[in-house]
Amino acid sequence: MSSAHRIDTTRVGIVGAGPAGLMLSHLLSKSGIDNIVVDNRDRDAIARTHRAGILEHGSVKLLSDSGVNGRVLSEGHRHDGIDLRFGGESHRIDFLDLVGESVWLYPQNEVFIDLADARERDGGDVRFGATDTVVHDHTTRTPKIRFTESDGSPAEIRCEILVGADGSQSICRRSIPAGERSDDFIEYPFAWFGILAQAPPSAPELIYTNSEHGFALISQRSETVQRMYFQCDPAADASAWTADEIWAELQRRVDGPDGLRLQRGPIFEQMVLPFRSYVCEPMRYGNMFLAGDAGHTVPPTGAKGLNLALADVRILFEAIDSFHRTGSRALLDSYSDTALRRVWRAQSFSYWMTNILHSRQDASPFERKRALGELATVANSRYAQQHLAESYTGWPHA
Ligand code: PHB
Repeated sequence: MSSAHRIDTTRVGIVGAGPAGLMLSHLLSKSGIDNIVVDNRDRDAIARTHRAGILEHGSVKLLSDSGVNGRVLSEGHRHDGIDLRFGGESHRIDFLDLVGESVWLYPQNEVFIDLADARERDGGDVRFGATDTVVHDHTTRTPKIRFTESDGSPAEIRCEILVGADGSQSICRRSIPAGERSDDFIEYPFAWFGILAQAPPSAPELIYTNSEHGFALISQRSETVQRMYFQCDPAADASAWTADEIWAELQRRVDGPDGLRLQRGPIFEQMVLPFRSYVCEPMRYGNMFLAGDAGHTVPPTGAKGLNLALADVRILFEAIDSFHRTGSRALLDSYSDTALRRVWRAQSFSYWMTNILHSRQDASPFERKRALGELATVANSRYAQQHLAESYTGWPHA
């Protein structure tokens, strides 16, 4: 690095300007805690990244109560339940009746747009378009982020606390020596084929369906744009599918005696989304703390990814705030254990939702019939439905 590089000193250096990094930055700034965020993507690229669309009530509350803006409440759609569909029949899981809670359909890229706007409005220091980002000196009192600014000039951020909120490919996580972390994961023999289409909604709520042809999810975005997914081979080539083939595949997975018909329209985005279940432990190395996908990923079936990231951020914010106000590191020291308790519950729920709804190519008749028995248990037991409803709408934040 040249000696002319710019050095900034701040309390908290955050790698990653996705929802987790920006939410943390927003909360810290509101508490008067100086911070800088660095991301190697540009703002428009993140805003165009389509991810899941369901927010737990606790996530909605965090966004609205912390003064990001009110768009989640004015533009988001409250959903009081989902349809669990199998054997061609729908079974409504009525969250409001079962556990007195709801979720909001509000896409992750909108959450990002709201947070990026709020950071700009409030004078936050967010450096998009960085390159060659590396982190150093985690175990010292002054961890550092070194990178090249979007204008090509070398830069260094010196901080007290470093946060890795840089997603599933996290450079922060990978900078932890192998002997200092465990990487626990499972792979699934399927991925999701996701589309965005210009069409009216096919249903008022999300439909999660298990069919003899595999899983499908009918989700929405607005009155005119719909989001749908179906289980596919992880090696599938998204561009090889024609619109007619995609619609036929989705339709046969929701077919049933009730004659449910999907509303078709032009597909303007189609992609294969691989996933796995993964946890890094601990979510800390020295003075570096991991949050969100940098520390763990879940399959999308439980819609937990973004919600879990925001739950981490809330715990981490409180730990940093306490350190800032009192000098005590106690909450920083317990951050990883506290966050991981929720992470493993969400892992378990996401794994369960994935397994009851997807079918494995090599499943024996026994396994297929057993899976239907499990779905029938959920559909016929209020206790089982409450378990699903409570997990899906989100456990109370720590
Ligand atoms: C979505 O709308 O993109 C979505 C909703 C629920 C999920 C996953 C994705 O479980």
